[in-house]
Amino acid sequence: MNSSSPSPKSPSPKSQPLKIAVIPGDGTGPEVTTEALKILKAVASQEGFTYELQHYDFGGERYLRTGETLPAGAADELRKFDAIYLGAVGHPGVPPGVIEKGLLLELRFQLDQYINLRPVKLFAGVETPLRDKGPEHIDFVVVRENTEDLYCGVGGFLKKNTPDEVASQTAVYTRKGCERCIRWAFEFTRRRNNPKGKMLTLVAKTNVLTFGHDLWWRTFQEVAKEYPDVKADYNHVDACCMWMVKNPEYYDVIVTTNMFGDIITDLAAVLQGGLGVAAGGNINPDPGCVSMFEPMGGSAPKYTGQNVINPIAAINAMSMLLEHTGQPKAGARVLQAIQTVTGTKMKSQAAGKMGYGTTQVGDLVVAALGG
Ligand code: IPM
Ligand code: MN
Repeated sequence: MNSSSPSPKSPSPKSQPLKIAVIPGDGTGPEVTTEALKILKAVASQEGFTYELQHYDFGGERYLRTGETLPAGAADELRKFDAIYLGAVGHPGVPPGVIEKGLLLELRFQLDQYINLRPVKLFAGVETPLRDKGPEHIDFVVVRENTEDLYCGVGGFLKKNTPDEVASQTAVYTRKGCERCIRWAFEFTRRRNNPKGKMLTLVAKTNVLTFGHDLWWRTFQEVAKEYPDVKADYNHVDACCMWMVKNPEYYDVIVTTNMFGDIITDLAAVLQGGLGVAAGGNINPDPGCVSMFEPMGGSAPKYTGQNVINPIAAINAMSMLLEHTGQPKAGARVLQAIQTVTGTKMKSQAAGKMGYGTTQVGDLVVAALGG
């Protein structure tokens, strides 16, 4: 297996249980995690693999109790698993940024999960705000760099809380960081093998970010030479937002920097039916390294405990976990079952408007898995 493989772990031998660390998190995180685990249980027995779960109580509740976001040694402990499943973190009682930086970003950085993979696929029966667009138009993937850029935490204040205050926040890009992400994206595009043609679009802002994005641009051009079968394409990020809405069928795979990737994947999530549907993987594709899968939505405190939150995104994240952790058949089976349920059962993907409760949607997906 080369280092660009999508599977961070080699398929475990049938006798080895798949070891999954589960962080249900805050708000509706535990509810949607329960549904994802229900689907895991059913598909494991159908596909004939075993697994072991270890739950961790990281999140806002624990922070309020202990003052800890990610306890010392936790990242090292998590490295021992085949994968991490994260429900959602974020707590109304904790100031913004504390859990996001101290837990989610900390895990991405410490585990060097340098790929954030976000498939954008409009499932059957799901409503998109784009008029005249259907599942055949909205099916692309965003590969977001996940460890650099404005997320690296470089910056500071000068003369804080005075009228002369200065704040700086520095975007850091490294040759190694952009090259490994770009190379993985080319490999992914090749493997995805889109029948409409293989195309990787670099999304950046080379006309303004003439240092950092020049490095990305030059690296992209160089790596592209190794992939003559993949069309190397470029969009400025502002134009990309426009195209994504006007002409989403244009895209096959997008590779982009961390902050732009964060922003355009929220736009993309809406095109595919919203945060009730969209999932992502924080992937470290290097051999023996661990990846983390999560629904893209947050902890939705106002819906907590009411059995109204949509578990489809969480189940979608479980499908991705299986696909990338040596159980691609199980992953594909879950993805198929999701589409049966969105296509034939659910009224809407919005919380409280699904026509079913959270647990019922989970049961419907289990039933759609077949026997
Ligand atoms: C995401 C989120 C995070 C990010 C936040 C919660 C730190 O928006 O996963 O897209 O900005 O990466
Ligand atoms: Mn985001």
